[in-house]
Amino acid sequence: MQNIYIKDLSQHIGEEITLTGWLYNKRSSGKIKFIILRDGTGLLQCVYFKGNVTPEVFELADRLGQESSIEVKGKVKAEPRAVGGYELDATDLHVISEAHDYPITPKDHGVEFLMDNRHLWLRSSRQVAIMRIRHRIVKAIRDFFDNRGFTLMDPPILTPAACEGTSTLFETEYFDLGKAYLTQSGQLYAEAGAMALGKVYTFGPTFRAEKSKTRRHLTEFWMVEPEVAFNDLNDNMDLAEEFLEYIVQTVLKDKQEELKVLERDTTKLENVKKPLPRISYDEAVEILKKNGIDFQWGNDFGGTDETVISNQFDRPVMVHRYPAEVKAFYMKRDPQNEKLALAVDVLAPEGYGEIIGGSQREDSLELLQARIKEHNLPQSAFEWYLDLRRFGSVPHSGFGLGLERTVSWICGLDHLREAIPFARMIYRNTP
Ligand code: 4AD
Ligand code: MG
Repeated sequence: MQNIYIKDLSQHIGEEITLTGWLYNKRSSGKIKFIILRDGTGLLQCVYFKGNVTPEVFELADRLGQESSIEVKGKVKAEPRAVGGYELDATDLHVISEAHDYPITPKDHGVEFLMDNRHLWLRSSRQVAIMRIRHRIVKAIRDFFDNRGFTLMDPPILTPAACEGTSTLFETEYFDLGKAYLTQSGQLYAEAGAMALGKVYTFGPTFRAEKSKTRRHLTEFWMVEPEVAFNDLNDNMDLAEEFLEYIVQTVLKDKQEELKVLERDTTKLENVKKPLPRISYDEAVEILKKNGIDFQWGNDFGGTDETVISNQFDRPVMVHRYPAEVKAFYMKRDPQNEKLALAVDVLAPEGYGEIIGGSQREDSLELLQARIKEHNLPQSAFEWYLDLRRFGSVPHSGFGLGLERTVSWICGLDHLREAIPFARMIYRNTP
């Protein structure tokens, strides 16, 4: 059977067609029953006139509960006042599976209840819009790198060692080989890839056993990580700003309808064009002080600090050269100041905080060995990584963009839990 979808109705005006889907909502007024059909591509009002259908069909339209799966038949007409702009002058109705007492009704529910019913909540117009934007962002990310000569290289998820520090590792027994860990980042493998292929990116799930209960943290999230041989910190920032502009402008171009469903005010997103402002960590600290925040040089920024800093700008801001102490072992130090790492974080506007973290990597074998010791990491697990410095080491850089933070920012969500189909957080691993 050739399916017809609601999104394609403009090609079927005046035709008698059959559509399948789910009963989204219904109402009646005397001799007329309205069924709102949902098929995953849109909503369609189907109008059942008492005189136009059999008494059985009319009774059925009355009886069916929300989310019953159905087949409707009728003539398509343009109707600007109806949801989606079309209406079905219905002539028939069949039940595929009758549903009653669907737990999510058009009234307001608490977030915990909705998260417990996430498998059903995904059917709502708002969640559908978010999933479609997420998909478009994923495709924009792939297109961006694929069109610039990058090769996608998938890193392993089970790894022998930490990448971003040992405190947030999920650990598991690995046969006779001792412990294995769920990856925190594909970066170390991306570096091997960059030495093999020049420009690579990884894109997949990553894991942090973080105790953070904030709206910005998931324990399982998706990260895309480009890595480029012979790029320094500035090249890395050039890449990051071009990348962000591409993602945001693509979504604005292609996903207006979904952004409207989310009631997203897109004025600030329209500003996301290069060049993005670049400030040093020191300058960011000055901003905090000017805003009356008691901030100690050397600390990492908290969520509120990030918001205060990013509020100074009309587009994402790149903060570079952080104190090395608060950053990962693999970052190269600033030749101008040993205390600083050649790191860059990109902070999104509107309080969304860090969406990108990246750096130029330490390319000296001796210094990297010393850092591994300082960070109390087991050198044996990093011998393969050190080989990248033993055999043709070059300056190189990369960054990681958190997919859910990006989705959340572009969609204007309150919490990361809606930016991924099935969120994993400290207190939630179901459904
Ligand atoms: O800053 P992070 O920890 O950097 C890395 O993992 C580097 N290895 C990346 C690289 O240079 N290749 O994480 C990168 C991004 C953050 O900016 C944030 O967007 C996201 O990943 N992220 C999280 N997203 C959701 N939940 C969490 N718990 C996250 N932790 C990081
Ligand atoms: Mg970071």
